Amino acid sequence: MCGIVGVIGNNRAKDILLTGLEKLEYRGYDSAGIMVADENEAYLVKTPGRVSELKALANSVPEGHLGIGHTRWATHGVPNTENAHPHQSTSGKFCLVHNGVIENYLDLKNDYLSEIALKGDTDSEIVVELVDYFYRKGKSSFEAFEAALDKVEGSYAIALMDVEDSQTLYLAKNKSPLLIGIGKECHYVGSDAMAMINETNEFVEIKDGERIILTSDNMTIFDKESNELSRDSFVADIDATDTEKGLYPHYMLKEIDEQPSVMRTLISEYLTEDGLSTIDKKIVSHMASSDRIYIVGCGTSWHAGLVGKKIIEELTNIPVEVHLASEMGYDMPLLSEKPFFIFLTQSGETADSRQVLVKVNELNLPSLTITNVKGSTLSREATYTLLLHAGPEIAVASTKAYTSQIAVMTYLAQAIGLEKGIELAKSIDLAHEMAIIASVMDSMISEKELISGLSESFLGTTRNAFFIGRGLDYAVSMEAALKLKEISYIQAEGFAAGELKHGTIALIEEGTPVIAIITDKHTASHTRGNAKEVESRGANVLTISLEDVAHDGDELVLLPVHNLLTPLVSVVPLQLLAYYASLQRGLDVDKPRNLAKSVTVE
Ligand code: F6R
Repeated sequence: MCGIVGVIGNNRAKDILLTGLEKLEYRGYDSAGIMVADENEAYLVKTPGRVSELKALANSVPEGHLGIGHTRWATHGVPNTENAHPHQSTSGKFCLVHNGVIENYLDLKNDYLSEIALKGDTDSEIVVELVDYFYRKGKSSFEAFEAALDKVEGSYAIALMDVEDSQTLYLAKNKSPLLIGIGKECHYVGSDAMAMINETNEFVEIKDGERIILTSDNMTIFDKESNELSRDSFVADIDATDTEKGLYPHYMLKEIDEQPSVMRTLISEYLTEDGLSTIDKKIVSHMASSDRIYIVGCGTSWHAGLVGKKIIEELTNIPVEVHLASEMGYDMPLLSEKPFFIFLTQSGETADSRQVLVKVNELNLPSLTITNVKGSTLSREATYTLLLHAGPEIAVASTKAYTSQIAVMTYLAQAIGLEKGIELAKSIDLAHEMAIIASVMDSMISEKELISGLSESFLGTTRNAFFIGRGLDYAVSMEAALKLKEISYIQAEGFAAGELKHGTIALIEEGTPVIAIITDKHTASHTRGNAKEVESRGANVLTISLEDVAHDGDELVLLPVHNLLTPLVSVVPLQLLAYYASLQRGLDVDKPRNLAKSVTVE
């Protein structure tokens, strides 16, 4: 979490930092700050709140040619001005921005900084004071930075300024993402490429443990032992306009609307015109020879994994387990003889998932990361990668990543199933089925007015809501509940429909909204029965069904799709329902409280 930016050698430094921070706000938006320097002076501005508030405060700051900036998701210390970055040492000599968590900050404070009156409560402030400590011991600025880093344990991406030297930036990385952008006689720094994409599309990747001296025309990379390293740059295939909202009021709405086109893109990415899989044969045969697949993810990605389990098991006959990364990290289950791991992660940076991948790599086991971000940490560190091709997902609430993860797992499962000669895999014309999916998504997306009305009448001022379903509909009900709670703050739970009567039904009272998802003919009558049970106890039931199993009076009816792929379409009205519930409550749809898009702390 947290985003950092930096620039050196460009006379629009302030503007570049503020624009970069706006693009990084998805990483946290509790507070923001910049330090900008020109030849004569350095200016520090920081504030709790959003980058828009920082922008207003920074009006009087000159453009400068050097600077660092930060947008924060609070870990240590409340979001206030003192805890906002950049942090300047009490001597005034150094100033830094940090993304990550310094695990031994209390030890460092006690061992080296007992004399210093710290301004805030953050772990990051300790680092800038530690650099200052070593500088006062007679080291140069860079030596002091290295000495401080040698003492620090934890994750970090750091950009450090020596306030008395307006020609140099110092950088370091360990476990938190950091890229350097190459400009014309200038350099940029960012937690991701999007922060710099308005200025350049040429980047240099920084690896864990590396320290860098950056000037406007030079970049020197050192490893932990101070050996100088050389590194080639790469050109990122990102279009700056992909990160704009265009005419949409919110990114979330834009991203929901993009789903049909993502589904169409995936057909051409994962199938040839003859319907053959384009997935690397090595991945397919490696997975086909495994005896168990372990899907690992968090939040929405974990929910996509629950759907993926069913699809992969049906199409490949390989048993699948789905694990929450934050649990698996310290509680590895008994593994089969030939396990294969799938990491589902939109961002490719989630720390909980990465810690599992580190363990998997230590065990020398094969893995595949399915991600939206090419070159992301989990992509680089897994054996294989498949991309979601969904375009940047900016809204904190994930939508198109969920559906594209399910779609990519389907293409993968079919390829494995074909390799294993599984009849069901042979029988599905996936290009055709996915084209239908895209059209059915389109038809739901055109029902915005109806769904907005349903949100108003069913969710109104409620404080809680339940989503129920069986099988794949249960998996979708969990994702629908997460969408609703994270952006509308309505307490929502997704339940296996048959499970309600075993306890939770006690919570149903007059007017409690219960949303029933019914797409499977084998379980439809049972879920309808469960809906009746809650209705007779006062619940307000809203039913979303598939045409094959629809009843008169169902509020939303989806056109038929393949029975394994129903989550791809049933989730769309539920995403919209959450969107309108948030909008109608006057909340910040794209940046809900307490959250961040990319969760890079464990
Ligand atoms: C919810 C949401 C989160 C993410 C989770 C994992 O809308 O976006 O639950 O799904 O933080 O993130 P990734 O997929 O980037 O690993």
